[in-house]
Amino acid sequence: MAAMDQRAPSLRFASRVEGLAGEATSVWDVHIAAVSARAAGKDVIVMSVGDPDFATPEPIVDSAIAALRAGDTHYTGIHGRAALRKAIAEASMRAGGPEVGPENVIVTAGAQNALFSAAMCLLSPGDEVVVLDPMYVTYEAALQASGAKIVRVACDPGTGFRPDLAALKKAVTPRSRAIFYANPNNPTGTVFTRDELRGIADVAKSHDLWVVSDEVYADLTFGAEHHAIAGLPAMAGRTVTIGSVSKSYAMTGWRCGWMVAPQDLVEHVHNLALCMNYGLPGFIQEAARHAIVESAEAVAEMRAIYRRRRDLVLAGLKPAATLKPMPPEAGMFFVVDIRDTGMSAATFSSELFRQKGVSVLDAEAFGAATKGFVRISFAAADAELEEGCRRICAFVAENT
Ligand SMILES: Cc1ncc(COP(=O)(O)O)c(C=O)c1O
Repeated sequence: MAAMDQRAPSLRFASRVEGLAGEATSVWDVHIAAVSARAAGKDVIVMSVGDPDFATPEPIVDSAIAALRAGDTHYTGIHGRAALRKAIAEASMRAGGPEVGPENVIVTAGAQNALFSAAMCLLSPGDEVVVLDPMYVTYEAALQASGAKIVRVACDPGTGFRPDLAALKKAVTPRSRAIFYANPNNPTGTVFTRDELRGIADVAKSHDLWVVSDEVYADLTFGAEHHAIAGLPAMAGRTVTIGSVSKSYAMTGWRCGWMVAPQDLVEHVHNLALCMNYGLPGFIQEAARHAIVESAEAVAEMRAIYRRRRDLVLAGLKPAATLKPMPPEAGMFFVVDIRDTGMSAATFSSELFRQKGVSVLDAEAFGAATKGFVRISFAAADAELEEGCRRICAFVAENT
């Protein structure tokens, strides 16, 4: 029998597949190697992914189990359940968003799926999409899959990776259709001020652009206040706000996110979801609704834990004088300026893993703005983070 691993050489793939394999996809190599080494029982510390080490809070899990036991195993509506959409709309208004109802919400398979859906429904081949760099690694492929050209606007490390509004204005051309960014940012943890958001909003309004604001870390801020750009004057009709339960409630594996947007965009995304996912599991939606409506305390606890861990990593890296960590205002990551070690970030991350069994990411995968930086996640347990920092410091001492 012929094996399936070889494609008939005469067959071709769609040109789209090139965009899907963005340069950034190789960044996960160290992470994937670390996860498989850990699974094989090796002494490895994974500081390369934003997947909280704690379990999803029990009451949330219980609500999914109860739904399953009650037979909630059938197809569901494509938009997502009314009660969940209502909960998301209300949470969005509490977070400073504009007046919205369930009709402005569509539930997606994580924020990632919402981002991809936004790209598919807003961007066409030949369009330009302006992104703030550094940007979360999966944006590259999601945006390129639309056929649009990515135009990056670097946020300068010297300013703490604040958005550069003058550069943003300059990057806009008649082909620009949208501005995409994450606020809070991954990997830097920067939270945009209200004035910065006003500046972005002004650019969007004066050039008639969509704004896609990825706010998956909005609940995990450490002091800095998060503002919703959709709530600024005249922004409701041009803003797509993306969120998910992944980070705030330690629910990454549940794959539940959403988009809050003008209703006609919601309907286009519905059509895309109809042919792509055909709805999300009902028991997952029940758990997500429980999380959003009844788990404010759990979020507060997690925020406090992340803040403590951020400080723990900061303190743990102090002995390595050539490392310059940039304390984040939100989220579960640091970027660390490693240029004084004399190594490239690619060498730093691959050698750190080879010599000490600690995985961090070369942050250049997030864009040129973070060239010479690595991204360290503090979504691991305290003891692991402490040991990880000890090994990083030893690695720096032995290699510089
Ligand atoms: C900025 C940002 N957006 C979106 C996502 C995807 O989140 P989700 O698990 O909801 O798909 C992540 C995950 O790390 C992220 O960091």
